[in-house]
Amino acid sequence: MKKCCTLLVILFLQSCQFGQSSFEVSKTSEEVRMKLKEVLPVLERPNYDVILGRTPSQKELELGRLIFNDTILSRNNDVSCATCHLTNHGLADGNALNVGTLGQGGPSGDDVGSAFAEGVLSVSRSTGEDGFGFVGPTFFFRNTLSTVNVAYRVNEATDNGLFHDGRFGRIHFQVLLPIHTNVEICGTNPIVLNEKGENIFAEGGPLFDKPVTINHSNSNDDYTGQDTGKFHAQPQIIKGIPYKRKDGSISIPNRNECLAILVAKMRKVPYYQKTFQEVYGEDVTDLNIGRAISSFVMTHVALNTPYDKFVKGENSLDASQLRGLAMFMTPIGKEIEVGGKKLKGVGCINCHDKGTFGGNGFASLGVRSDSRSPLSRTDFSTNRNNGFFSRPRVQRGYLPNCHVLGSSALETTSYVPDIGRANGSFNSDDCFKFRIPPLRNVIETYPYFHHGTERALGRNESDFEKRSLLALKNVVAYHLRGPINPQLYSAYDVQKPFFDDLYQKDFLVPYYAQNFIDYKLKGPNHVDLFPVTLDDEAINDVVNFIAYGLWDKSSMSKGALGNDVSHPKKVPSGLSPSITRDNGKQTELPPNGKY
Ligand code: HEC
Ligand code: HEC
Repeated sequence: MKKCCTLLVILFLQSCQFGQSSFEVSKTSEEVRMKLKEVLPVLERPNYDVILGRTPSQKELELGRLIFNDTILSRNNDVSCATCHLTNHGLADGNALNVGTLGQGGPSGDDVGSAFAEGVLSVSRSTGEDGFGFVGPTFFFRNTLSTVNVAYRVNEATDNGLFHDGRFGRIHFQVLLPIHTNVEICGTNPIVLNEKGENIFAEGGPLFDKPVTINHSNSNDDYTGQDTGKFHAQPQIIKGIPYKRKDGSISIPNRNECLAILVAKMRKVPYYQKTFQEVYGEDVTDLNIGRAISSFVMTHVALNTPYDKFVKGENSLDASQLRGLAMFMTPIGKEIEVGGKKLKGVGCINCHDKGTFGGNGFASLGVRSDSRSPLSRTDFSTNRNNGFFSRPRVQRGYLPNCHVLGSSALETTSYVPDIGRANGSFNSDDCFKFRIPPLRNVIETYPYFHHGTERALGRNESDFEKRSLLALKNVVAYHLRGPINPQLYSAYDVQKPFFDDLYQKDFLVPYYAQNFIDYKLKGPNHVDLFPVTLDDEAINDVVNFIAYGLWDKSSMSKGALGNDVSHPKKVPSGLSPSITRDNGKQTELPPNGKY
């Protein structure tokens, strides 16, 4: 009895110590939970037996982690997956558009590699506009997506769901695509001879002493090495890569050759040799590399957020986040009362509707594309014969009619908006739609939108958290502005962060193509509901909820199977891990190999 009283006194004193607020928070938590209990989405742990057909072993996951971070992946030994998917940027990269292999600037060498491993950002970095100051032969075409929670989006059957346009769904194959892709990991440079004038990739040379069979092959023209754009063709045996092609040109390895070079290099590294045998009972092959990386990526999961704890009954969200949640879940035009205060619904759940707070829907918010992306170049996006994605479109016999050829905008500017989902579906109704992005860990994946165009203070703000919050505030405000009435705007200004002038055919995402309310409904845009005006406190509440309420801080160190997902200090090849941009100073042969 006495003990019990003491406990009560302590509890009472504790709640007094935190004043009324702790009591208020628990009361408000209960109120919000009760009011929303029917609609709060829940995220279950991924079922690996279903999505991978097995639960990967710790040994396989560690193998995946090391490959993911090993710059052996690129022919020039300068880029790994972790160049663009960094654990200290929420497994995205902090840039609007990144650059792939052969980039220059930014961090370089082992020092930065190890500083990065300690979680240090921006060591000796010259910060360019997007923070990193990389310069490359070409900018990559979209803002890097995080690999977090892809396990909930992969779909082998439909082969849809991944990327901003959902054009891919098979993860085993997807993880090999960056290795295939010249501008990303492989390199557009011709083969470099060593100091003795030898081609180390030649048939019978140190790497190709045995031929390599590529299973996930892509049919390249044998004679010119030119890529014909067909994936999953016949397995191909690669005996070596000639320095000169039959027509006398110096060879740039094609997609299959890039993959073969990787397999050949990894077979020379004792750790990989041994571990692939142990895990798969086989030599290093492209299929096994795909298995190892994808198993690892599938454990990048953000599941343990204050929101999830709140759903389970804890008082893990503060008062502002609770108000934000209530607004998020309430449709536009409706109100919800929390703690005696009437709050406006902002209808986010209409679209960000799954347990990931993303989902597989697509919508067009008319967001401006970045003119540095190849996908916003007129020649690239509208040329039927030699444009990005145009070959597969032509192979299917039709092209989505997003850009109206011959319109004044196309004649006067080299810029057009990225057509988005229509790249994957080939359906004109999907022009300019993008995947509704997942919002868990969103505070870590600054900048925002498909080309990273929402970057608030950008390079001028060195406090990364503050920068994310400011950018998120803009993102929310942008959503609430709704589709713009074209009559209200006239002059166009390319520098504006978003499309404001929607009557300009093609130059802008057309007004009628935007759907700010419900991507599932084709109907009217409910223009009458917009703009939704919120005061600063209300916008901050929504931002606080998505930024902190949906943040799983442990997900950057621990994977869903208890495995380590952090950035390793050393990788098996002996190369500097993951983010080196040292102008090709690393050797073409990995130092830890046996040749
Ligand atoms: C040069 C930067 C870069 C490199 C290197 C890179 N990625 Fe990516 N990654 C991107 C970009 C950009 C996207 C989004 C592309 C799009 O939407 O079209 C992306 C998307 C993804 C996705 C889809 C995420 C989603 O939510 O749909 C996965 C998975 C992924 N990358 C894994 C990898 C793996 C594995 C590697 C290494 C083999 C890798 N990436 C290397 C830039 C990169
Ligand atoms: C009509 C569907 C729809 C509704 C409603 C909606 N969103 Fe979005 N949201 C999107 C789409 C589509 C994008 C991606 C747009 C792009 O990249 O061009 C997006 C992007 C975002 C992003 C940027 C994420 C990133 O990683 O780049 C955030 C944050 C966000 N939404 C939050 C919200 C909030 C908060 C609300 C409620 C106020 C909301 N959304 C309502 C469709 C919607």
